[in-house]
Amino acid sequence: MKILIKSGRIINPSDGTDKICDLLIKGSQVELIAENITEKADRVIDASGMWVVPGFIDLHVHLREPGFEYKETIKSGSMAAAAGGYTTICCMPNTKPIIDSPMMIEYVKLKAEKEAVVNVLPIGAVTLGQKGEELADIEKMALKGACAISEDGKSVENAFLLKKGMLLAKKAGIPVLSHCEDKSLVNGGCMNEGKIANSLGLKGISNDSEDVIVSRDILIAESTGARLHICHMSTKGSVMLLKAARERGVDVTGEITPHHFTLSDSVVDGADTNTKMNPPLRSEKDVEALKNALKNDKEGALVIATDHAPHSAEEKSRPYPSAPFGIVGSETAFALASTELYHGGYLTAKELIEKMSVNPAKILGIKKGDISVGNIADIAIVDPEKEFVVDKEKFFSKGKNTPFDGYKAKGAVEYTIVGGKIVFEKGKINDN
Ligand code: DOR
Ligand code: ZN
Repeated sequence: MKILIKSGRIINPSDGTDKICDLLIKGSQVELIAENITEKADRVIDASGMWVVPGFIDLHVHLREPGFEYKETIKSGSMAAAAGGYTTICCMPNTKPIIDSPMMIEYVKLKAEKEAVVNVLPIGAVTLGQKGEELADIEKMALKGACAISEDGKSVENAFLLKKGMLLAKKAGIPVLSHCEDKSLVNGGCMNEGKIANSLGLKGISNDSEDVIVSRDILIAESTGARLHICHMSTKGSVMLLKAARERGVDVTGEITPHHFTLSDSVVDGADTNTKMNPPLRSEKDVEALKNALKNDKEGALVIATDHAPHSAEEKSRPYPSAPFGIVGSETAFALASTELYHGGYLTAKELIEKMSVNPAKILGIKKGDISVGNIADIAIVDPEKEFVVDKEKFFSKGKNTPFDGYKAKGAVEYTIVGGKIVFEKGKINDN
């Protein structure tokens, strides 16, 4: 099978390519990048006006399988990812049972190989059952293909256990993805602490509940030399702490979600639970700090990750304090990044692609995020100028829990190609 992509703007930050030309895919690989390729192909895609870029890599999704298939499955979550331009996604272990053993890693990998339309890399739990009592077999999970470890959904409360986990992750050559939240400081809150929470009579979650654990985890990474990646940074404090740590040489990276760089707690009305997630939407000041951190990161310390967290309509229809935390994100991430950050003047096209593909690949230490000739053809073709209105009913995810239904976006994913196969094309999934 040969696919010829004509006249797109090929942006491949890994080798500095940024030019309008053609790209030929043969089998699973990029065969040729040149002007006016005339070779006959089975499919010709006219990409004029579009960007042809390395497929996006999401370090943070919840696929919910096994155990919560009514929220999402490996298959439906992978379809949502494909619709978002993602060619590789890393799935969090807070399923039922928890992904905390080599066998569970293998289970997810095999199921994904059979059913997923994008590459799925499982993340193992730090502790058995995510109970925070005993470490999981990190070494063997890594050998079976765990791309990282994480206790996402919460922090490892016991610092000594986390330290031992970091040392094992370091030995296994995988990063630790940290959900930073001090449970005692969260204290049962359900939205950002401040004026709006007060006016709604809702219990607030302070910034320090995040910052305290970011500090702790950075210090433990510093002493162990482990690779630390901070999940969903939502506060000004988090980005300042990360910057300071990197300046003194600590191997720490971080992610910012599209919802945290787009919305502040001003959208919370206490009724629509699609504004409820963990960490919560913060103040305008925090949002500005996150956008500026993305803008000022020139060395690959930051990525955009979704924390795609599907829940059922029934669960999300509960009263605000008792509804589950989390929103879906795979299918709106590029649209939000393009609208808010690229058109918003915070990131250039190249920087956007770095944060959605190149940097995540580097953090995982995988040979992806680079569409040089000879590499695997994991490619997204996006139209940065296309305007559309987000419609949650069109999502491939089982979860419709988004605060962005009706959002006016500028920037859309048109094609997603995984290993030389077109898996998403103009609103349709090809899963055969
Ligand atoms: O909002 C969230 N939802 N944050 C998390 O950390 C976990 C996630 C979930 O699993 O639903
Ligand atoms: Zn998460």
